[in-house]
Amino acid sequence: MEIRFEKCKKLKEKPDQKNLGFGKYMTDYMFVMDWTKEEGWKDARIVPYAPITIDPSCVTLHYAQETFEGMKAYRTADGKIQLFRPEMNAKRMINSNARLCMPEFPVDMFVEAVKAIVKVEEDWVPSEPDTSLYIRPFMFATENALGVHMATAYKFMVICSPVGAYYAEGINPVKILVEDELVRAVKGGTGFTKCGGNYAGSILGQVKAEKMGYSQVLWLDGEQRKYVEEVGTMNIMFKIDGEIYTAPIEGTVLPGVTRDSMIHILRDWGYKVNETKLSIDDLMKAGHDGKLEEVFGTGTAAVVSPVGELRYKDDVITINDFKIGELTQKLYDTLTGIQWGKLEDKYNWTVKV
Ligand code: COI
Repeated sequence: MEIRFEKCKKLKEKPDQKNLGFGKYMTDYMFVMDWTKEEGWKDARIVPYAPITIDPSCVTLHYAQETFEGMKAYRTADGKIQLFRPEMNAKRMINSNARLCMPEFPVDMFVEAVKAIVKVEEDWVPSEPDTSLYIRPFMFATENALGVHMATAYKFMVICSPVGAYYAEGINPVKILVEDELVRAVKGGTGFTKCGGNYAGSILGQVKAEKMGYSQVLWLDGEQRKYVEEVGTMNIMFKIDGEIYTAPIEGTVLPGVTRDSMIHILRDWGYKVNETKLSIDDLMKAGHDGKLEEVFGTGTAAVVSPVGELRYKDDVITINDFKIGELTQKLYDTLTGIQWGKLEDKYNWTVKV
């Protein structure tokens, strides 16, 4: 793919790597490519990061044909830069787009675009511990029309942001509220896709949780509000009586890259991982019976996030004395060890830029 490059007149000042937070600073450039029904994908370009002009009738503003991905570039000790399983993000975006009637962005072009923007922005990949360059590929319809239909024009873009921890808590335990009224996804819906609409629909639950002093929501299934599915921005895993439980990928849960990687590592370590429905009643009971040993969220942005407290209606359980569990810590160290190139990558998950 030929990528046109337009140079910035002046580069931005880089933020303090010790205080990056999450998603606050954008780099100097962005990758852009357009799609039309007649011509397909065209005009790949890396241009100065800047606002884009949108017509008020742009269909995305009204009907939300938008999908996105989240991935990171890591600086290794020898100063090199690597990505983590980028083809998985590319494939997931293809699946998201198929559900939203959006065009396919081929895997090889996706990986090439990500590598190209990261290469241009290499000075933005931070080197402080636990920092990385968060990469946000996204696609949206650009046709201007008010009728609801599959749009005839789209834009694919990639922007980058140097980040630290997603949660202010870092890798310290968070408190999670089990949402028993609102739902995030139903079978046949868009729950398995990474589309903006899924997140818009989750914000009310998040606001409610925050008002009650909780960091995130644990969503139950949309039909019976009985089985645990996922947390606001992460998949979730439970260690009960020595075995791991996590919701199956059956259309309502996001197929997380970190989730898949953790399952590989856990099975390699000899753990039984049950990708199965787990009811909230059984989960709370396991908590009260002292069998719920660890709970942790998994996601690209947050990596691994230990859960110290779960509240379901008026029932509250504390997990592992509100301390990070031994297995949670080991998983965090192993995964980030591979991502930052400190541990051998026996799974061949990392890709040099
Ligand atoms: C990620 O983990 O990368 C995500 O996409 C979550 C995001 C909504 C912050």
